[in-house]
Amino acid sequence: MSGKTTITIAGKGGPVRGTVTVPGDKSISHRALMIGSLARGRTEITGLADGADVASTAAALRALGATIETSAGKTSVRCEKLIRPPGAIDAGNSGTTARLLAGVLSAQPFESIITGDRYLKKRPMERVITPLSLMGASISSEGGRLPLRIKGGKLSAIRYRMPVASAQVKSAIALAALFADGDTTIVEPAKTRDHTEIMLKHFGARITTAGAEVTVGGEGAEHLRGTEVEIPGDISSAIFLVAAALINPYPFIRVRNVGVNPTRTGAIDILRKMGADIRLFDQRNWGGEPVEDIVVANIQQGQISKQLNGIEIGGSEVPAAIDELPAIAAVACFARGTTVISGAGELRVKESDRISAMTEGLRNLGAKVEETPDGMRIEGGVPLRGGTVNSAGDHRVAMALAVAATGAEGESRIEDADCVAISFPEFFQTLENLRGGK
Ligand code: S3P
Repeated sequence: MSGKTTITIAGKGGPVRGTVTVPGDKSISHRALMIGSLARGRTEITGLADGADVASTAAALRALGATIETSAGKTSVRCEKLIRPPGAIDAGNSGTTARLLAGVLSAQPFESIITGDRYLKKRPMERVITPLSLMGASISSEGGRLPLRIKGGKLSAIRYRMPVASAQVKSAIALAALFADGDTTIVEPAKTRDHTEIMLKHFGARITTAGAEVTVGGEGAEHLRGTEVEIPGDISSAIFLVAAALINPYPFIRVRNVGVNPTRTGAIDILRKMGADIRLFDQRNWGGEPVEDIVVANIQQGQISKQLNGIEIGGSEVPAAIDELPAIAAVACFARGTTVISGAGELRVKESDRISAMTEGLRNLGAKVEETPDGMRIEGGVPLRGGTVNSAGDHRVAMALAVAATGAEGESRIEDADCVAISFPEFFQTLENLRGGK
């Protein structure tokens, strides 16, 4: 998503304080809409994410015959049966929409086309084309990129060892497997977010997990029954507010009702390792997903934020923090010593090349950052002067740079800032309110 809006962020000032909520979890929202559309009967969703990515999934499912209506904070989903869409399905900026729907459409008895915006058209799709073709779908593409033309039909069960750690790939196969002729097993190289597994169970599918293996029962779509889904706040949005609190003095923020599924809390572990005081309160369970309030506070009175230290981040820490690494890079600029992020080459194929977009953006704010093939090296403690930076059309880059700018000496401008609407339309207002201590 790209636009012309430039947002001005005031340099460092007072504390970041207040109690807020964030939009519903984007990953869980996509899955609730898709699985709700495959289920028999009505699904009632509370707290669906209000960003543009989830709207792309809703529009795609409507084109496929689903009725999706939102009123008074509740979204109802019903679908008798999926039908051939009247034209190409536009996934917009959303990789999750394109890849997960490719799984669903591979099993339908009609032909369909999935396309997307200019950013999504650059992102790799062969990672879903390969396993779905092994199951029997016929998929053509533009050299492994969108648009995909999918001729769906009867699918065979497979055992598939994924070459990349990707929840989108795992989920595309799992959704296709619901229509296969036997049990499909997916083997992950590293544990990725398991929202599809949890949501499928919640809807009544047969699905089991054993270590790195996920097995989905064949002809499982028959067992899906419409149900109620309550969507927790998105930790990937909350983390930007947590990061802003951590780099400003005398913080106290509480982010209410955040999803803290252990496959998503890697950023909290990393920030704690850097020395941050982040606490979780009031554990609850929403349809199999753990939910808590996140609190960042300086418990010792009369002190500014605790000094954070630079650390090394890599290996299995990466998948559980993949979307939060831009926020962590922003925090690392304010830590003592060097932070090295490695093993994160996947960042290069996100909504933008996040390694190069974050390196350039943080440098333009005055930070000392080096780009490496699979990560970055950030010298902490170099004062940021502020400056003009560009989001590269990527929501998480826009938010991470805005967070870094809150700790800079002077004012900064974030160009092409509209893209925050992908996942967190109220981000700038929320940040402003917290900086005003409201
Ligand atoms: C997502 C999985 C991750 C993540 C993306 C959402 C999902 O992508 O980066 O924002 O909802 O399954 P990959 O599967 O490409 O790692």
